Amino acid sequence: MTVPFLDLPRMHQPLLDEIDAAISGLIAEARFIGGPAITAFEQAFARTCDVKGCVGVGNGTDALTLALKVLGIGPGDEVVVPAHTFIATAEAVSNVGATPRFVDIDEKTYTLDPKCLAAVDTTKVKAVMPVHLYGQPADLDPIMTMSKKHGWRVIEDCAQAHAARYGERTAGSMGDLAGFSFYPGKNLGAFGDGGAVVGNDLELLDRLRRVADHGRQTKQAHGEIGLNSRLDSIQAAVLGIKLKHLDDWNRRRARAASWYDERLAGISGLTVPYRAAGRTHIYHLYVVLVPDRNALQSALNEVGIQSGIHYAIPLHLQPAYAHLGYAAGDFPVSERVTATCLSLPMFPDLEEAQVDQVATAIRDHMRAGG
Ligand SMILES: Cc1ncc(COP(=O)(O)O)c(C=O)c1O
Repeated sequence: MTVPFLDLPRMHQPLLDEIDAAISGLIAEARFIGGPAITAFEQAFARTCDVKGCVGVGNGTDALTLALKVLGIGPGDEVVVPAHTFIATAEAVSNVGATPRFVDIDEKTYTLDPKCLAAVDTTKVKAVMPVHLYGQPADLDPIMTMSKKHGWRVIEDCAQAHAARYGERTAGSMGDLAGFSFYPGKNLGAFGDGGAVVGNDLELLDRLRRVADHGRQTKQAHGEIGLNSRLDSIQAAVLGIKLKHLDDWNRRRARAASWYDERLAGISGLTVPYRAAGRTHIYHLYVVLVPDRNALQSALNEVGIQSGIHYAIPLHLQPAYAHLGYAAGDFPVSERVTATCLSLPMFPDLEEAQVDQVATAIRDHMRAGG
């Protein structure tokens, strides 16, 4: 029996009639940009995130770029970014003409290590972007304390953390602004690209909405140079239907994670995900560390089990950032995690028997000297 990495068709199956009807309605009205489907989704998603406002945008990278832009980050500024994340976090910084300043991650949670902030040369730093990587919130309290001290803005990268929680607070509600991605494979995914910016400063969000719509002040007047990055109404309708199931899907992901935890416990050489006390991990990804990651991935592949690598190269060693002059050895935890991480199948409908199958294959491989 093969085990897919992600089973989106199965997740969507029970919702197809409702989604078909919503899309057909929008096609009949030819309502593709703007309109009530957008407003309804934005309001519902703001409630999910425990914030006052939400602006739907074209994708998660634009969400982060727009957030930085309206917070006034630009050329000459530096933004602290963890060295281990998807490249989009740093790309957003580069998109506004600022420079990412990489720091290492915590060795247990794989999120930005607040201890590393103390060593940062703060002269040009204007903001920090904690990433709630794999679905577990970064340690926001010390990051916020440090940011207050230096007057830094905080932009949460919530692309992998829809409705994750840090104590009593929801991911996206703690920083100045937060960016979400609705890329199809995310815990809340569209039927194409999509993203959102959320926050509590409605004036700032209103400006962001205008910047994302060509900097429009009125139909004809453009107050500033913006971009075209709007969530379209078909995506908003799909997301609105899927949002009603997000909590249940997140719970089922966490249940699958606990099956993995149980079955993978005690395998020598294998590190399972750590759950920091007080944080609700929503398991966008279930990532293990194993010394010979590539061999394990091939062994799983041979028995029909798909897996992924998130991510194989830390950002400070990406060719795109070679000009910043970082070197191997600069961020040892990020380098170790990128060299050894493997993402196992994870989706709400993952069955206990499938987890058994994955765990048995891993145990067999490791026992054979993996
Ligand atoms: C951590 C992180 N940040 C940002 C993004 C960018 O989102 P998008 O692909 O929607 O542009 C992603 C997703 O791909 C991500 O995983």
